[in-house]
Amino acid sequence: MNTLIRFRIRKAAMADKAAILKINNAVLDCPFEEDWLDRILAESPDKVLVAVREETVLGFLTFICREEGVYITYMGVDSEIQRCGIGKALLKKVIDALPDHGKNQIRLHVKASNLAAISFYEAAGFRPAAQINNYYGKGKPAFLMRFDTHSLQSLLNGS
Ligand SMILES: CC(C)(COP(=O)(O)OP(=O)(O)OC[C@H]1O[C@@H](n2cnc3c(N)ncnc32)[C@H](O)[C@@H]1OP(=O)(O)O)[C@@H](O)C(=O)NCCC(=O)NCCS
Repeated sequence: MNTLIRFRIRKAAMADKAAILKINNAVLDCPFEEDWLDRILAESPDKVLVAVREETVLGFLTFICREEGVYITYMGVDSEIQRCGIGKALLKKVIDALPDHGKNQIRLHVKASNLAAISFYEAAGFRPAAQINNYYGKGKPAFLMRFDTHSLQSLLNGS
């Protein structure tokens, strides 16, 4: 389903903290700690993106830059308005900014049981690169998923 929702993506500010935490606690089964968000908002607010309708936060994405590429740490969309293109718009912002970071790859870990998120990432062009047993605790494996602009280009060029 795809309902038309007006929103824009912008960098987060400290004032968005409560709304981000609320979505984080509601939709992520491994939510992050408030202290972590405090630190990242203070030290690298450009690595926290929010989707907002007027000033209401509808979703967020956090990432870091590593040697091998950009790594998405967390993302979540308000459960009331999932499947309306907000997650896709947040991801697109990160993909579009890859050249600014001098990277051509995005990686992330996702619970192997989170089939909805895996479908979402696959729809965006991510592919599973490895399965890591016990990543989220005993008996809770993760997939390492990877998006690569080179592979995407080859796919688009049919090579
Ligand atoms: C995963 C998540 C971020 C996706 O955000 P979203 O705004 O709901 O996703 P979008 O509307 O942008 O979806 C884009 C496409 O991804 C795919 N997709 C998204 N959710 C899906 C689902 N539940 N099942 C199957 N495919 C899905 C579809 O192809 C969709 O396009 P379509 O709606 O036109 O068919 C969101 O559902 C969420 O917050 N989930 C809970 C938290 C979570 O799992 N975070 C990721 C942890 S790694």
